[in-house]
Amino acid sequence: MPSCRAPTCAAPQMNAQGYRRCVHLVRQKLLPGEDWKIPGLSGNTGGLKTRQIRALERLAGRRIDPGEIIGREAARALCAISSEIKRQVGLLIHRSGRVECVIVGDHDRIVIPPLAKIRTAGGRLRGLRCLHTTFRSASIIEEDVMDMACLRLDLMSVLTMRDGLPDTLHTAYLVPEPRDGRDWDVLDVARPGRSPVSCLSFIESLEDEFVRTRPIKEVEQGRDRAILVSVTTGSKSAAAVSMAELAELARSAGVVVVDQVIQRRKSVHPRFILGRGKLMEIVLRSLRLGSNLLVFDQELSPSQVRSVTEHTDLRVIDRTQLILDIFAGRALSREGKLQIEMAQLKYLLPRLSGRDDALSRLTGGIGARGPGETRLEIDRRRINDRIARLTRELKAVGRERYHRRSRRRKRDVPVISLVGYTNAGKSTLLNTLTRSRIMAEDLLFATLDPTSRRLRFPRDLEVIITDTVGFIRNLPADLLKAFESTLEELHEADLLVHVIDVANPSWREQKEVVENLLRALDLDRIPCVNVYNKIDLVDDFAAGRDPDGREYVTVSALDPKSLAPFLELAWRVLEGISGNARRREGGRQAAGEEG
Ligand code: GTP
Repeated sequence: MPSCRAPTCAAPQMNAQGYRRCVHLVRQKLLPGEDWKIPGLSGNTGGLKTRQIRALERLAGRRIDPGEIIGREAARALCAISSEIKRQVGLLIHRSGRVECVIVGDHDRIVIPPLAKIRTAGGRLRGLRCLHTTFRSASIIEEDVMDMACLRLDLMSVLTMRDGLPDTLHTAYLVPEPRDGRDWDVLDVARPGRSPVSCLSFIESLEDEFVRTRPIKEVEQGRDRAILVSVTTGSKSAAAVSMAELAELARSAGVVVVDQVIQRRKSVHPRFILGRGKLMEIVLRSLRLGSNLLVFDQELSPSQVRSVTEHTDLRVIDRTQLILDIFAGRALSREGKLQIEMAQLKYLLPRLSGRDDALSRLTGGIGARGPGETRLEIDRRRINDRIARLTRELKAVGRERYHRRSRRRKRDVPVISLVGYTNAGKSTLLNTLTRSRIMAEDLLFATLDPTSRRLRFPRDLEVIITDTVGFIRNLPADLLKAFESTLEELHEADLLVHVIDVANPSWREQKEVVENLLRALDLDRIPCVNVYNKIDLVDDFAAGRDPDGREYVTVSALDPKSLAPFLELAWRVLEGISGNARRREGGRQAAGEEG
């Protein structure tokens, strides 16, 4: 039976029955064979002697005088162990002076662990400062500044050593306004125990300064304040168009956009998407602007989200998640809610692996699949079960929808479906045409649930007109899949009306996105009329023909008087369709009689 690996414990990991574990394993929820982690100690602790681990543990239990960067005694203990093990040793120190974590690095660097699990003092800066030893004579290096900036540390101090004893103390701090083109500055070089300023009051005044220089007052309490980020390997202008749309999406999701950053790179950084320098710049900006969220225009892999979150300590989401959030807030019908939940779960499933599974290990028990099953596996299994249940429910709802549709078909009422890019004015057109009041707002994806209304055409033709979910470029695949049954409704349409917002500078690209999606959904076989909307906002946009020869009309969906040409064209096309159908039917009957 292997014994516990905690340095002060030699107890067997389990008893003879195999189910009672050593107290250390139980406490850290570890499985037999996993390494015991020393509380408050992180990093490269492999190969250290028990005596050395104890010395590091003692450092973790120390308190540093909050007025000092580090006291003489603590500095001596830190340098002694660091030079003995020939590895850099760092301390993460809370504002109260408590050492929250001791980090063991290698000879040249230390790696700060994810701070999410470490208690911090909060506030604009992180409430934690880092101090580490170095074997170099040079003081603060770029990596130190990067760590300080990305993690919003209160201070970053480097302690040089001579013959295993503390020598000089170099301290850098972030500044609210760049000084000489730099976002950081340094304190005078000092000796341990003789700080040039009172450490705590210096940090507090620095934080006050950050708050004072903030340009916008905190009016939007409770709302996310985001910096939008786009990384492109193509043209910057295309990225700018996409960014403008991302800003609209953010606004529709109720997020306050405080800044937008576009970076052009030869290739996307596999871990951080942007270059590390740019990332640092963004974190500093977020500090100044009081933002808590980064929204990337690109789809991020789960590991990229994790890397950026750990390095910046900001919440990170991508465009897909933003769209999913909007959808989740808008769905009203049962079907809409089921569909969006399905899309969210499918989005979440591959990202679950990003969780810290060592922390989420279960000890097993009734209901679970027994010992050894991780929280992650359970989460995954639950999600899969839920997806299976949702699929069944959606099928049932789909059947109801099918019956509704076939009743409609029996009554032989032609169906017109409005399609188009989000915010093109579909709901407004439906409202004006049918004098109804479905939600039409200057928000992306204001309508999610398909809505149908009856409309009496001028020449005594009755039609059903339906409004569906709007399209957008790079519509998340899971979302498209989840909305399959809603989109299926479009297949029943006799006529598609493609509403195009000509007031949007990107209307040509938007039109193309919709046409491509219609093609992908195999809807291009249904007759389609293009309606150029919002002409009240543009000059010189006359009715005419598209490059492919199709006739189009121009309207202002807000103005009922402008809709006559549209009704006329739709009527003609519907008449043409029913005329053709009658001719086909007649032809079939004649052929049958002849046969
Ligand atoms: P989604 O629900 O996102 O798919 O949007 P939608 O295509 O249904 O657009 P909606 O009808 O919600 O209109 C979006 C915004 O455009 C609203 O603020 C409308 O008032 C406005 N709008 C629609 N048509 C016109 C128009 O002809 N002229 C002007 N000036 N504004 C319009």
